[in-house]
Amino acid sequence: MTQANLSSIEAFASRAEGELIDALVEQGWYVGKGVIDAGLCASLERELYGLKEAQALEEAGIGRGREHHLRKDIRGDAIHWLNRESEAQRAYLSAMQRLQVALNQTLFLGLFEYEAHFAHYPTGAFYKRHLDSFRGRANRVVSTVGYLTPEWPVDGGGEMVIFDPNNPEREVARVVPEAGTFACFLSDTIPHEVLPTRHPRSSIAGWFRRNASLGGVLDPAR
Ligand code: OGA
Ligand code: MN
Repeated sequence: MTQANLSSIEAFASRAEGELIDALVEQGWYVGKGVIDAGLCASLERELYGLKEAQALEEAGIGRGREHHLRKDIRGDAIHWLNRESEAQRAYLSAMQRLQVALNQTLFLGLFEYEAHFAHYPTGAFYKRHLDSFRGRANRVVSTVGYLTPEWPVDGGGEMVIFDPNNPEREVARVVPEAGTFACFLSDTIPHEVLPTRHPRSSIAGWFRRNASLGGVLDPAR
């Protein structure tokens, strides 16, 4: 099967969906290996390096809308928002669309859209411990990370550490950012961090959103 006609079903291991939903309910997070199709990961990683060569990546910041600013002491990745411009992006996004439907049907989360960006962490980059959204203005409800780097070296660092929401000093998982691995967690509940990487690291970070526009104030898209 070529990448051009890779359907959302082949893009994302179907066994993962049920496991993912159970894990989200039980512990608020899920990690699965070999979930994203290997050929799709390779196409997406190639596309990310093409964007990097074309200087189409921007330094990532923190905060949304007018509060957005660069903080290299907090995060050091460079990003490019997915915009459906390639077959590979469309395959990944349609797999996420299926996941959104499954989450809404089983957990009644009322997710209505998905936003995602490629992220490239050069050697030495990290992302300090954080939550992806804050209660009250929690328009990001479920976070996803798809990893794209093949053959992650054993001493490569760059793991995503997941912490216990009830005891944020306690690590509950370390996710090796190896191609095919997919992580998913509740955006306003699960503290997480990216340890300094010793190997160039490629991923797609994404968020299922709920409409959080309040009192006529339009919620910024990002
Ligand atoms: C993020 C994030 C984790 C990762 O982009 O908000 O936490 O492993 N990414 O890339
Ligand atoms: Mn995050």
